[in-house]
Amino acid sequence: MRKKVIAGNWKMNKVLAEATQFVADTKDKVPGADKVESVVCAPFPYLSELVQKSAGTDLEIAAQNMHYEESGAFTGEVSPAMLKDIGVSYVVLGHSERREYFAETDETVNKKAHAAFKHGLTPIICVGETLEQRESNQTMDLVADQVKKALAGLTEDQVKETILAYEPIWAIGTGKTATSEQANEVCTHIRIVVAEAVSTDAAQAVRIQYGGSVKPANVDELLAQSDIDGALVGGASLEADSFLKLVEAGA
Ligand code: G3P
Repeated sequence: MRKKVIAGNWKMNKVLAEATQFVADTKDKVPGADKVESVVCAPFPYLSELVQKSAGTDLEIAAQNMHYEESGAFTGEVSPAMLKDIGVSYVVLGHSERREYFAETDETVNKKAHAAFKHGLTPIICVGETLEQRESNQTMDLVADQVKKALAGLTEDQVKETILAYEPIWAIGTGKTATSEQANEVCTHIRIVVAEAVSTDAAQAVRIQYGGSVKPANVDELLAQSDIDGALVGGASLEADSFLKLVEAGA
């Protein structure tokens, strides 16, 4: 039985006072980590403080991106060692917004996945198709390709620890959620791809989240699907009450 993982991706939202208030309002109310993993993916400037403020609770703090290099002349970038050093435990990699606006590629996502494991960070790797790709029946091939390239060269144990997030781009921030059947169909396909590329054990262990207009009203139905092991949530994760409803649904 795979433990569900619910991650709120704040994207580029909140000022520090709002971020710390959110953590104060949620850290003692999230279900136990034995029932569900509750994760907040916050902007870089707040990570250190949020890690400290949530210490000793079941609320985990994640970064939304990082570089794959160890250190050096990469102005404006943040390294995996820096994230590990301040106590961050998860990192989102290859979000479609980073692929679209910041030239993230399958190759850089793969380098980042290797770098994450090297530094003891759990990667949440995003894949997903555009509306145009879905309408021209490319979804399954495209997602398979993204998954295989992202996981290339990782050990079986590392793949078991990886979290994949299927986020159809047409459902992000649009209020247009994939139906639970559509979402599960692709998540099942992803699990088959992992089985073929890595092993059946890895495919059974890897957690696959769905992301795209998830909210308290639709989360139960999505999480009830056979191959959906959690959610990566944008808009509906910004308010403490709504985030708590989402993580309770995963418990
Ligand atoms: O990473 C979460 C995401 O892209 C979905 O955003 O606002 O549709 O839940 P939203």
